[in-house]
Amino acid sequence: MANKLRQQKKQATKAVSLITLADRTSPISEQYRTIRTNIQFAMVDRELKTLVVTSSGPSEGKSTTSANLAIVFANSGKRILLVDADMRKPTVAKTFSIDNSRGISTILGNRETTLKQVIRTSGIDNLSLMTSGPKPPNPSELLESNRMTDLIQKLKEQYDLVIFDMPPVVAVTDAQIVASKTDGTIMVVRENVSKKDSLLKAKNLLEMVDANILGVVYNGSKNIVDQGYYYGS
Ligand SMILES: Nc1ncnc2c1ncn2[C@@H]1O[C@H](COP(=O)(O)OP(=O)(O)OP(=O)(O)O)[C@@H](O)[C@H]1O
Ligand SMILES: [Mg+2]
Repeated sequence: MANKLRQQKKQATKAVSLITLADRTSPISEQYRTIRTNIQFAMVDRELKTLVVTSSGPSEGKSTTSANLAIVFANSGKRILLVDADMRKPTVAKTFSIDNSRGISTILGNRETTLKQVIRTSGIDNLSLMTSGPKPPNPSELLESNRMTDLIQKLKEQYDLVIFDMPPVVAVTDAQIVASKTDGTIMVVRENVSKKDSLLKAKNLLEMVDANILGVVYNGSKNIVDQGYYYGS
């Protein structure tokens, strides 16, 4: 049991692979740029400044997709903020080798905390980061609060695009909550991992809160980890 807990804890702070930083010319980086273009098309007709990245179940590539998308958007000159709104299994601090002593859980849980105290530079031009912060007992309640609604509004004023890395839709309600407060949602589907019935369930849950589902990112089976690169390591 202790072993299992240790393992879960270890998993909870895993870095993801930043292929778009390691090799801008790789076909995978090109694919992230294609996704960027598709999202930009969706941005033409209506304001799209806040974007949720989620999936039906665990380990389907939400954090990998959101971090790499944040990088390619930043590369295009837009001011981008990547928010680790997965307070249950955060990755952003590890991926970008930054401190996680303060983050979204801090600003949502503590009135005295200012935005400045929780936004960090990434070392990549135009990309700022907000990590998860210490694990709170009540992530869903924090995300459902008016403080979260106000925070989203403030972030919209400061950035061209804010990307929220979320937990899976089917397991917990966090992604549903944030999808209902933001402009667009992207679903990541991973080959051989995503299950059809949970995909349908996820779609229904998102539709229930009137999420604006922009599309699906198909995360293939090709191992991007082998070619991977951990920023800062
Ligand atoms: N296409 C892929 N091929 C191989 N490994 C991948 C692929 N996409 C992601 N991974 C790996 O799978 C693991 C899970 O990816 P990631 O953390 O991006 O998923 P997630 O959906 O955010 O997971 P969680 O539900 O834990 O938040 C990571 O170790 C990542 O490097
Ligand atoms: Mg994740």
